[in-house]
Amino acid sequence: MQIIRRKAALRAFTQAWRRAGGTIGVVPTMGALHAGHLSLVEAARAGTDHVIVTLFVNPRQFNNPEDLAKYPRTEESDAEKLAPFGVDVLYIPEPEEIYPGGFATNVSVSGVSDGLCGATRPGHFDGVATVVTKLLLQTDADRAFFGEKDYQQLQVVKRLATDLDLKTEIVGCPTVREGDGLAMSSRNLRLGIGPRETAPVIARVLTGAADIIARGGNVLKALDTASEALLAAGFDSIDYLELRSDPDLQLMTKADRPARLFLAAWLDGVRLIDNLPVSAPRKVETSEDQPLESA
Ligand code: PAJ
Repeated sequence: MQIIRRKAALRAFTQAWRRAGGTIGVVPTMGALHAGHLSLVEAARAGTDHVIVTLFVNPRQFNNPEDLAKYPRTEESDAEKLAPFGVDVLYIPEPEEIYPGGFATNVSVSGVSDGLCGATRPGHFDGVATVVTKLLLQTDADRAFFGEKDYQQLQVVKRLATDLDLKTEIVGCPTVREGDGLAMSSRNLRLGIGPRETAPVIARVLTGAADIIARGGNVLKALDTASEALLAAGFDSIDYLELRSDPDLQLMTKADRPARLFLAAWLDGVRLIDNLPVSAPRKVETSEDQPLESA
């Protein structure tokens, strides 16, 4: 695995791969790698000839300077974790390779980025959309792999790739969870021992609410019960707990089309997010639905 910090050096690799007819997969990350990230690397390995992992802690997507300062930087151990996965290049761009002096361009996706984290973290998705656009272009990728853990981000990236005619296919991969159901995240390491034991309540509460809604239960009531359970378990506050349509992320109060539950909540000073699909309620068959017996 080559570690590359300059886009000109990266281009030498991608051009050589292209000349030989190889396909390129990219996994964009901010480092502090865990099994969730590594599952994306495996998907890239299986789906393309050459794999680039990018590692860039993107200042433009942090709306809170303290969050940026606290973001773990573990370059060496990240490189070690990637070693067994057959990654060709670990691209760790110098900041000026992403934001050259005078940088004045912003990629802003409306619609899917309006609610949820877009509402509670102003500017966040502009930062994500801008850096992802650059990373997809710099890596010349045929396919880019993103986790469903950040489902809204996945939809923002799909939208920008379509709208800007990028050739990169955006591939979504399932959320990887700890044994107790907590969605893996670099932020989990910031939880104290007690809060870490509380955190899996998120997955339990979301699964419970998703089941009730899938069985045709009242959506708002299910969401209220879930919020109360989180606060009773020790969560400090909830940024949002909403049912949204999939994939256009419109707010829903009735589960009448494919939907997902989305949650962001604070525990021990750490903001945790998760989401789960809700299958549409099965229609109860009435005698009127029965096919008429052929005469
Ligand atoms: P980061 O938080 O490092 O995540 C990198 C990728 O790993 C994202 O696609 C994210 O959805 C995925 N991921 C994180 N936890 C996961 C889990 N438990 N299961 C499956 N996939 C998981 O997301 C970012 O970085 C940045 O916003 C980035 C896209 C790199 C742009 O800066």
